[in-house]
Amino acid sequence: MKTAFITGITGQDGSYLAEFLLDKGYTVHGLIRRSSTFNTDRIDHLYKDVHDPSARLHLHFGDLSVSGQLTDLLHTIRPDEIYHLGAQSHVRVSFDMPEYTGDITGLGTLRLLEAIRKTGITTRFYQASSSEMFGAAPPPQNQDTPFQPQSPYAAAKVYAHYVVKNYRDAYGLFVCNGILFNHESPRRGETFVTRKITRAATRIKLGLQQKLFLGNLDAKRDWGFAGDYVEAMWLMLQQDKPDDYVIALGETHSVKEFLEKVFQKLSLDYQKYVEIDARYFRPTDVNILLGDATKARDILGWKPKVGFEELVDMMVEADMELAKKEKTLHDAGYKRADNIR
Ligand code: NAP
Ligand code: GDD
Repeated sequence: MKTAFITGITGQDGSYLAEFLLDKGYTVHGLIRRSSTFNTDRIDHLYKDVHDPSARLHLHFGDLSVSGQLTDLLHTIRPDEIYHLGAQSHVRVSFDMPEYTGDITGLGTLRLLEAIRKTGITTRFYQASSSEMFGAAPPPQNQDTPFQPQSPYAAAKVYAHYVVKNYRDAYGLFVCNGILFNHESPRRGETFVTRKITRAATRIKLGLQQKLFLGNLDAKRDWGFAGDYVEAMWLMLQQDKPDDYVIALGETHSVKEFLEKVFQKLSLDYQKYVEIDARYFRPTDVNILLGDATKARDILGWKPKVGFEELVDMMVEADMELAKKEKTLHDAGYKRADNIR
């Protein structure tokens, strides 16, 4: 059976992809960062003790900033497929940490490509490109739409995207860019807007939180389900030829629409609880993203299973379950800090 190497395995997409590949019988190796607190929550359910001979998930400490170590890992693991999902992935944070974002989100990709080249391994490589790269380009956006990046994050992803294309042309590597539009899930990081909203609304419903502070409510995004999008990553690496694809649901909704929908589902009036806080505005934001995934549908045969309404339901239900557990803890004296989110 095949072996895969995943960077960013502890993130939202990494956890769904690891699940997907293990189900297909792959042995999966993942890169994780040393942290003083546990950062493997999203993959704990997949992990078996290393002493268990049936264990097919192996984790390696490392960092995308250290090229020699990436080279050593690829040399030892010799994966058939590499899914490069690791990144400083928060757009707002990229304005606070532009240099770090360029290093990890941009140069991190170059380091891995060089590691492939230097080890000489035969492998297939997936780059997590982003719809954020389209930036100010008018919708709908597909793989032929010129990029107009509006953040240090987007600029770093554009760099990585082009370096992938260059290594494909220059060295004949099997490398693909998946230009994924926003995808969410109950495992979405809590500082991204959809999860921030579903988490806050369900906590408000149970009396665990009073206010929700947000930024630009007019921005529009094409939001799909992360579980569907990891299948597209895999499909790209199963083709005869490497190529670039847009992956999107093909409908766009404003942050305000998402907000209203979530609060309505909980029979709450969002206007009573939501306040605008300028700290969540970005120096430049992306107004509207709407993807055209025709190429992926035609060539990969990819089709999303979860629509926008089902995604909202799924996230609200999961966060309501979480809020109920938290309420039990809260009633027993536990307090979560809201002010750092
Ligand atoms: P995420 O939840 O933020 O996960 C990011 C992952 O990268 C985490 O595992 C994180 O590790 C790891 N990471 C961060 N800095 C690292 C470093 N210096 N060295 C090694 N690993 C590092 O992101 P996601 O939503 O799963 O997205 C996956 C990828 O797709 C990212 O590259 C993102 O930019 C891109 N993308 C995402 C979307 C989307 O809507 N979700 C759309 C388009 C593209 P820790 O857990 O230790 O922090
Ligand atoms: N995070 C956040 N927090 N965003 C807010 C808030 C808030 O309080 N209030 C309004 N927004 C707006 C942002 O200004 C943005 O226009 C929109 O909500 C979506 O923000 P995020 O959920 O942070 O996602 P993103 O679109 O900036 O970036 C995500 O999608 C990209 C693909 O287009 C990330 O997952 C990126 O890694 C990914 O590449």
